[in-house]
Formats: sequence, C-alpha cells, structure tokens
Amino acid sequence: MFYYGACYYPEHWTPEQARQHIPLMQKAGFNVVRMGEFAWCKFQPDQGRFKFDWLDPVIESLNKAGIKTVLGTPTAIPPQWAIVRYPDILQKDQHGHVRNPGSRCHCCKNAPAYQILCETIVREMARHYAGFDAIIGWQVDNEFGCHYTTRCYCEFCEKAFRDWLLAKYKSTDALNEAWGTSFWGFEFRNWAEVPLPKAMPAAPNPGHWLDFARFSSDTQVKFMKTQYEILKSLCPKHFVTHNYMGTFPEVDYYKLSQYVDFPVWDNYPDPYGHPLAPAYAHDITRSFKGKFWVMEHKSGPTGDAAAGVLDEQPEPGDIRRWAWQSVANGADGVVYFRWRACLTGAEQYWHGILDHDGVPRRRYYEVSKIGEELARAAGELEGTSVETPVALIRNFDTLWSIERQPTIRGFSYDAHCFDLYTAAKASGHLCDIINSDAALSKYATVLAPCLAIVDTPLAGRLEEYVKGGGTLVLTPMSGTRTPANAMSDQTPPGLLAELAGLTAEEVRPYQHGQTHEVVFKTGPMAGKTATVGTWIEVLQPGDGAEIMAEYRGEPVAGRAAITHNRLGKGRVFYMGVYLPAPALREFLRACLPEFPVKHIPDGLEVTVRRDGQRRLLFLINHSGDRRDLMLPGQFTDLLSGEPVGPKVALAKNGVLVLRV
Ligand code: GAL
Repeated sequence: MFYYGACYYPEHWTPEQARQHIPLMQKAGFNVVRMGEFAWCKFQPDQGRFKFDWLDPVIESLNKAGIKTVLGTPTAIPPQWAIVRYPDILQKDQHGHVRNPGSRCHCCKNAPAYQILCETIVREMARHYAGFDAIIGWQVDNEFGCHYTTRCYCEFCEKAFRDWLLAKYKSTDALNEAWGTSFWGFEFRNWAEVPLPKAMPAAPNPGHWLDFARFSSDTQVKFMKTQYEILKSLCPKHFVTHNYMGTFPEVDYYKLSQYVDFPVWDNYPDPYGHPLAPAYAHDITRSFKGKFWVMEHKSGPTGDAAAGVLDEQPEPGDIRRWAWQSVANGADGVVYFRWRACLTGAEQYWHGILDHDGVPRRRYYEVSKIGEELARAAGELEGTSVETPVALIRNFDTLWSIERQPTIRGFSYDAHCFDLYTAAKASGHLCDIINSDAALSKYATVLAPCLAIVDTPLAGRLEEYVKGGGTLVLTPMSGTRTPANAMSDQTPPGLLAELAGLTAEEVRPYQHGQTHEVVFKTGPMAGKTATVGTWIEVLQPGDGAEIMAEYRGEPVAGRAAITHNRLGKGRVFYMGVYLPAPALREFLRACLPEFPVKHIPDGLEVTVRRDGQRRLLFLINHSGDRRDLMLPGQFTDLLSGEPVGPKVALAKNGVLVLRV
C-alpha cells in the first residue's frame, strides 16, 4: 500500500475549519495524515490528567474519509507545567548555560524526571489508541537532535557519561590508555575526575571527543528504545518509526534503526541545491531497513525560522518532480509538511500545501495531480523495492572524527561521500549506504571514502570481500586511525596497506589553494589529466600494484597519485587525491558494474525498482531543460499509459515511470 498525505495540526484550527479541510484532503488522494507530535500540553493538561477528546473526533472523521493516522509521541516539547515543576529537566549547553523553554527540544533525555514524564505520556497514549482502527503507526518524538540538541552538558549527562565509560573501559587506567591522557597531563585517578568535553580554551582530546559523540548518540537510541518497547507491547498492530534528518551528523542512525520498523525522513529539497542531494538522503534512509517513507515533504517555501527568512517558492512542477524522486529511490509513503500554513507560532512562514487563508491554489492542484498519478501506479509499485550492486560505506565514527579534525579547513566527509555517490549515479547506479560492519558480499563494488578508523576485524572483512571478487575503492586518509580516535602507528593506510598494495609516504595538505595536475597512465582515462588540490598523498606502490595516475609538477612529479591492486579475484583502487567531479565520474566508471541505460545526460536521474523479474524504470529530469536519451527498447509509461522509447525526450521537470 502506498501512503500519501500531509502533516496535520488540528490543534491550530477550529472544528469548523477542520471540517472543511477533510474533503479537500480526500480530493487530493490522501490516505494518511501525521498528527500530534507537538501536542503534549493538549494530551496532558496537568500531571495525572489526560485528555484525548480534542483529537479523537478528528481521527474518526479522517478515517471515515479513508484517511488513516500516524500519531506522534509528543515528547519533543513537554508542557510548561512540567518545566515549572521539574526545572532540572532543561538541557545545558557547552558553556553550562540552560537551554531555555519557549521553542522546542530543550529537555535532557538523561534527566530522570523527564524520562518518567515521557514514559507516562507515551504509555497513556498507547493504551488509549491501541484499539483505534484509524491508527496505523507511531512516530516517536520528532527529529532527535534537531537544532543541534543531541549533545547536552548538564549534570545528569556528566553522570551518565561516566557510567557509559565505566561500562566500556571498566577502569580509569584503561580509559587513560585509550585516550592517551598522558598528553597535556589529562590523566584520571577515578571516575569523578572525568569531565564532559565542555567549551575549553584549546582543542579537546580526540578520544574524549569521539566517546562523547558516541555517548550522546547512544542517549538518543536509548530514549527511542524505551518508547519503541512501550508502543510495541501495547499496540502490536501499529508500526513504530522516527523521522530522521537525512545526513544529520549527530545521531548514529544505524544504531537507532534497531528500534524502528522502518525509518522515515524529512525532505526539504533546496531548489538551488544539487538535485541529487535528496536522492543521497533517500538512499541513506532506505539502506537502514530496505524500506522508508518521507514523513515531511516540502510543499511550499521553507526557510529558517530562527532568522525569520523564507526561501523561494517551489516552481510549478518542482513538488511533483521531488515526490516522484522519493518514490524512484524507494519511498513507500510521501507525507507533505504541512497541510496548511499556520497563523501563529514560530513557523508562521513555513509553507503548507495551502497558504494561511486555506484557499486551494496551484500547489494544492499539483499535489492532487500527484495523488491521481500515485493511485494509477500504486498496483505496480506494490512489492517493488530498490536493489543495487553498489554500496558506499558511510560511518559515524569516521564522520565524528573528521567533524572534530577535518584536516583541511572546510573539508566535509559528507561532501566527499556525496561526490562519490553522484559519480556512481552518473553511471546509473544508486548506492546502498552502509555501515562498516555491514555484509559486503552481495555488492560488486564498495566505495569506502576516507575510511580513517579501521580495526583488524574490519581490515579482515575488506580483504575477504576483495579476495572473493569484490571491487573496493579507497580514498585519502584510509586506515590512519584506531577506534579510540588515536593515530595508527603504522605507515598509512595502516591495516589496509597490504590490501591496497601501497604505502602513503607523505601527505601534502594544501590550505592555500595550491594544485597539481595528475596524468592518467592506464584505465578509461589514460592520457587525460585532472587538477587536484586540497590534500594529496604521495603513494609508493608495492610489488604488483599498478600506477593509474601520477603527479606532474615538483616536488612530487612522477610519484603515484592513484593505484590499482589485484588481490584474489578482486581489485582495490586507492585514490590519494580528491578528484574533481567530472574526472571522478569518468574514473569511477572503471570501478562500477554495467548499467542497462547508457550515456545518461547531466541532470537526468535514472533509477530502478523491482520485484523479482518485474522492473520499473524511473526517469526524472532535474536539469531545467529538455533531455534526450536512448533506451534499450520500447516501454509503457505508467503515468500517461503511452508507449515510450527507444528514443526519449524528457521536457523540463519530466517524469516517466516505465514498466520494463
Ligand atoms: C522539520 C520539523 C517540523 C517543522 C519543519 C519546518 O524539521 O520536523 O516540525 O519544524 O521542519 O520546516
């Protein structure tokens, strides 16, 4: 079943207005709404007192109109009475300042009173709604860590952090050893001496920093687990999910995904940003469980509530293109944020399908057209999902390590992952985005950008994968660190050196815009050159490894920049440089399996959903112009019913869903 709808806040509207909303939703083809995630003060007007009659009639009326409900647990904002009664539930920032109420996400998940308050409201809601036919699932809380609140520095967190460290290291001696506290005389004699890494005059110890990032993420996971278990035990028929934030860097979503039936995420594409940025986040979210929804989908101008500014209106056709992009990358539900722009509160300017006046206009009609198209395609979509022979390792330890020490000003691990991702997409492949402990054997190619933190088991698994016939692509900084975020004492790429068949003899960080040319000696780019800068590694290939590209220009002229090593049945490519996007795209073609559609023009996204032999081919034109393409045959477009191919011309914003 494909779910289509909007986030709806009946608490913002009079019952009369709500009555007018429902037929309009029905006409737009909706079959689901998400409600309630910020309404704790309505559900529990005082301690021990619960109230559901403000929402139940709305749930029932929606149900009569064929619209099911996903309910939010409202724990992102407790009622004001709770703050007044338990003031120590408020978070503290790095400077020890209280994060004040008045907006949202200001409570500490390690504060015992807050934990009890949350468990109580969730249990009461679960008991009340367990028997409702109209409810299909729950969204726990809202966007954990939103507004950068994952990391709290209060006294409860300090205590919980020490307990977390005790469980991990057992003794302060082991902790001292792991963090290398002999540097800057930071040794601990007992747990009471271990602080949180609050604001400090100089840089924190990298081990201290990484463990605090892990602990803060684990705090969110534990909070999720508690609610997941309550909901699953009281409402076994309902699914439980949480709305992720795509590339949000603070919560380890691999761990969080143990406690969702499937994840959902909030997709606010920037009309001026890279058109594949949402696809990257779709693929991240899909890869956790093989299934996902978009729970907040942009439906109008968005912006920055804190700054009080608005971004551009989506142009006609944008919302449709984004919605189909979500489906093309595997979404089984699209829920817009929000039904109608609100009249009061911090997000007055925040986009609804309807504007403040509630009058249906072009965005509503576009959303309704998508509703019709989805209804037409729903049967064909049923049971299909995305499968791909390409994986990209995106690992939170590495992400956090590089967040603290990016090595080059402005370097972003995610931007580098995204470069590799878009290069793979240019060949037609979307990627599963996986953790470094995931099974690899089903992938023909594994891209492992900046895989800095490596231990012996990981090195062993990568070797086994390559020997078994896999293609592994490594990029700078690989194997340079230990899981404690210490530097490896082996020549880079450390534990991966044998596998890659080389050592990196020298790194040359270019903070001031210096560049080199690399010239390709072998492979698909033989004879071509590319300009590289930022960070280059001077590679020394061992026996058997082949130099694919070397540097021009002193002092590194003639030294290896990119190498290729064969091992068992597989191969390892090591790139000691960050290639610019066009060169990366061309180079990576040699590392990827064949894709049935060739020569995909710029700005055209191609994906496949399948169910056994049944395949749906999606073509989406993000380019702003017409795009021409040759298909390997003639197919039927599910949206228009027309035959298409082999020659195809897609207009601006064009979408084709072809039965193959
Ligand atoms: C999301 C959030 C929503 C709303 C929206 C506004 O991050 O989950 O509650 O604030 O942004 O753009």
